[in-house]
Amino acid sequence: MNNKNVLLTGASGGLGKHITAGLAAAGYNLALQYNTNSQSIAENIKDISNLSIKVKAYKADITTEADIVKLVSDVKEDFGSIDMLINNAGISINAMSWKLSGEDWNKVLSVNLTGPFLCTKHVLPLMKENKYGRIIYISSVVPQIGVPGTAAYAASKAGLGGLCKTISKEVIKNNITANMISLGYFDAGLLYQIPEEIRGQIKETIPVKHFGNPAEIVECIKYISNEESKYLTGQTINLNGGLF
Ligand SMILES: NC(=O)c1ccc[n+]([C@@H]2O[C@H](COP(=O)([O-])OP(=O)(O)OC[C@H]3O[C@@H](n4cnc5c(N)ncnc54)[C@H](OP(=O)(O)O)[C@@H]3O)[C@@H](O)[C@H]2O)c1
Repeated sequence: MNNKNVLLTGASGGLGKHITAGLAAAGYNLALQYNTNSQSIAENIKDISNLSIKVKAYKADITTEADIVKLVSDVKEDFGSIDMLINNAGISINAMSWKLSGEDWNKVLSVNLTGPFLCTKHVLPLMKENKYGRIIYISSVVPQIGVPGTAAYAASKAGLGGLCKTISKEVIKNNITANMISLGYFDAGLLYQIPEEIRGQIKETIPVKHFGNPAEIVECIKYISNEESKYLTGQTINLNGGLF
């Protein structure tokens, strides 16, 4: 049991399910944010109901600041503190740049970049007060390698790199670290938005020749969350099977 309180965004999604299960098994208390999928979040919570940890789900749209203010205040009320924030919620809307609507561009940027900024902004005062915090941004290999049709997604995830670096410098004196985990193609969630044939082609381009196992993401999060992992901040950890 480690008694750390974690706020995980996108907990109702494919990777959210695995991160929830992995952190729950390791004894973390979990505040789980979802947006629309109440059924999935209920199932994820049911799956870990035999464990003696504190778990609660919170509905919030991370693009709306008022929702984040309420989310953070509710989690503080219920858990007392937020030791780790995992900015995992994200979406992808794909189209060649010359066909991508401004509306879709804005939507992707709002969820993938503005959302993590707002969560960070409102969680930081709690972490500063506690003189401890771990912030993680879940990013992607896509901006590192360039993938046609992903302009908005790539730009949003690249933006997280700048956000992460800045935050790491702003709060290092408060014993708070900020790091980014940049993922290749993992066997869950968004991967299954890609048509099967293209998925097969993508797999061939990955040097290890298979999709990532979400359990590896959990191990990485656990490492970052260690009290001892103080020297790791402002960094991007690449989990991509050798793609980049
Ligand atoms: N799967 C991969 O191979 C892969 C690779 C690289 C990076 N990633 C990144 O990993 C993260 C998780 O991806 P995933 O594969 O688990 O995707 P997913 O299954 O599609 O899950 C997306 C999650 O984001 C939440 N969400 C979407 N819009 C939101 C909003 N406006 N406010 C709050 N929450 C919102 C969804 O909530 P509801 O369903 O409740 O609406 C859901 O929990 C994303 O940041 C993604 O970019 C994934």
